[in-house]
Amino acid sequence: NKGKYEHYMQKEIHEQPESLTTTMRGRLIRGGSCKAKSVLLGGIKDHLKTIRRSRRIVFIGCGTSYNAALASRPILEELCGIPVTMEIASDLLDRLGPIYREDTVVFVSQSGETADTLLALEYALENGALCVGITNTVGSAIARNTHCGVHINAGCEIGVASTKAYTSQIVVMVMLALAIGDDTISNQTRRESIIDGLFELPSKVREVLKLDQEMKDLAKELMSEQSLLVFGRGYNYATALEGALKVKEVALMHSEGILAGEMKHGPLALVDENLPIVVIATHDACFSKQQSVIQQLHARKGRLIVMCSKGEASLVCPGGSCRVIEVPQVVDCIQPVVNIVPLQLLAYHLTVLRGYNVDQPRNLAKSVTTQ
Ligand code: UD1
Ligand code: BG6
Repeated sequence: NKGKYEHYMQKEIHEQPESLTTTMRGRLIRGGSCKAKSVLLGGIKDHLKTIRRSRRIVFIGCGTSYNAALASRPILEELCGIPVTMEIASDLLDRLGPIYREDTVVFVSQSGETADTLLALEYALENGALCVGITNTVGSAIARNTHCGVHINAGCEIGVASTKAYTSQIVVMVMLALAIGDDTISNQTRRESIIDGLFELPSKVREVLKLDQEMKDLAKELMSEQSLLVFGRGYNYATALEGALKVKEVALMHSEGILAGEMKHGPLALVDENLPIVVIATHDACFSKQQSVIQQLHARKGRLIVMCSKGEASLVCPGGSCRVIEVPQVVDCIQPVVNIVPLQLLAYHLTVLRGYNVDQPRNLAKSVTTQ
């Protein structure tokens, strides 16, 4: 039931304040006078000791689920102090890459049925790793065959392009980092500030959804373009990949997510006054580096659309020379949840304006159950 919405993708984008609330329900502990704020993930609490002792955490997924894991990698590394590596399921299988008994392998999948991810799970089980699932579908193959896991509880997602599952996956993986890192006193203040940020996140997402009309106007400007680049780094490298994936899969427009740190090693050659470029430059530890990327793109007359934290337009776009998307600022590691929303809206409006099928893009399936 689409309710008041025209498409499932549109409905699922707009219901993110609620889906995120459901994802976190019962899992964040407010703390009290002598009790610290903490996270309780019932599905993994009995396995935390083993996870903390593991030599490596390996994330495995495909498409949007892979991007969600990538968005969560920095906070896992920071709070857990365990090396975290990333694998696209098919690539791991192509290489038969090393997976060890001492590894914790986390399988991220909305449907829980993606063939490549399932085959990678079989492979990791054979190699004796602890296998953890993060899925939206209770009773799915991944939920059944992993040793333990966390349901993201985002509610049924119908649009082929994943939106609300992506933001809920990130939130679950941030909670996973908080739970694993819960045994270190030195992180306590940082952990509590992230938990405070999680409590506020649904209302921040509600706020960023107000950019709907602005994104529709931007889509009108961009609808006849051939291509769109999206630059991000740090926590928001994944946002660049995921924003570009949305535009590509539903609006059928070429789009590429680019790691801003790689700009000089190739992508800069593409920059001219015609090619639209989205630069994600919300305020975090990488901010000054992103400011210098913007300056360099500007010097090549790049056609810039900059996403920045509210009130910082003048810091990213001196002289008002580019288009700015201002978003509410949240704690750095959950900023990707806020930042993806305008790009989801942009992809949605581009698709409608270009006259394509929003919920079932040509050639794609919601769940790819064959290799
Ligand atoms: C569980 C209940 C929830 C209830 C709550 C109350 C289910 C599905 N969830 O939620 O209804 O309100 O307790 O305490 O009944 N699992 C995997 N692999 C996966 C995902 C999950 O093995 O990919 C396992 C978990 O290890 C766990 C079980 O499935 O044993 C349920 O996981 P989850 O729903 O995340 O647990 P809770 O949040 O505790
Ligand atoms: C398909 C979907 O390609 O599978 C994508 O069209 C999705 O939206 C990908 O990200 C992975 O699916 P899942 O269910 O494993 O997260």
